[in-house]
Amino acid sequence: MTKIALITGANKGIGLETARQLAQQSIQVLIGARHAANGQAAAQALQAEGYKADFIALDVSNEASIKQAAQTVADRYGKLDILVNNAGIHPEFAQGVFSLEQMSSELMMQIYQTNVFGPFMMMREFLPLLRKSEAGRIVNTSSSAGSLTDQSNPESPYYGVNTAGYNSSKTTLNALTVQLAKQLAGTNIKVNRA
Ligand SMILES: NC(=O)c1ccc[n+]([C@@H]2O[C@H](COP(=O)([O-])OP(=O)(O)OC[C@H]3O[C@@H](n4cnc5c(N)ncnc54)[C@H](OP(=O)(O)O)[C@@H]3O)[C@@H](O)[C@H]2O)c1
Repeated sequence: MTKIALITGANKGIGLETARQLAQQSIQVLIGARHAANGQAAAQALQAEGYKADFIALDVSNEASIKQAAQTVADRYGKLDILVNNAGIHPEFAQGVFSLEQMSSELMMQIYQTNVFGPFMMMREFLPLLRKSEAGRIVNTSSSAGSLTDQSNPESPYYGVNTAGYNSSKTTLNALTVQLAKQLAGTNIKVNRA
């Protein structure tokens, strides 16, 4: 039976390449993207390369969008084998925000809404479909910038990456990943981070 993989933020960057490499393994990939034109273009590009790829409208910061996407996947495919929570934002560099005084509550909440609440809601809403897989897999795309060890070790190349919102959001994502992996231990679903 064909495996189905959903990758969030798959219209470009690491998400698109992840989709391509999964598709190379004869997996049907679902290109999650918040802007339809970009998502459709990415799906068409993979189709032109000979892969099975469909676009799914998905804004991971929007609970209604996530619920709608889960319903769409249920209706079209009836299950999900692989969920890659790739979509993420790191706006502090572009906005020049490197201190607590500069960090607005709105920006902090925007980062957490995408990088933490997004994967949290995705995992919760897609869990029923992953349970229908013979071997469900969740992969949360984190960052070494989220590692408490790297953030605290002056020898680490990430020691100087001090973007409090992004770093702490990935630290929280790591903790969520560990918690869900433990909750699902002994089931057919494995939860990891990349
Ligand atoms: N690049 C690195 O060096 C690096 C290192 C470590 C970890 N990471 C992580 O890897 C992941 C991908 O990074 P990247 O470098 O490929 O970034 P990127 O090129 O900026 O791509 C990010 C993707 O996430 C999407 N996205 C952002 N907010 C979204 C939302 N609310 N709903 C749906 N999609 C959303 C973007 O969509 P739009 O095109 O619509 O904006 C885009 O498709 C991120 O989680 C990042 O933190 C990256």
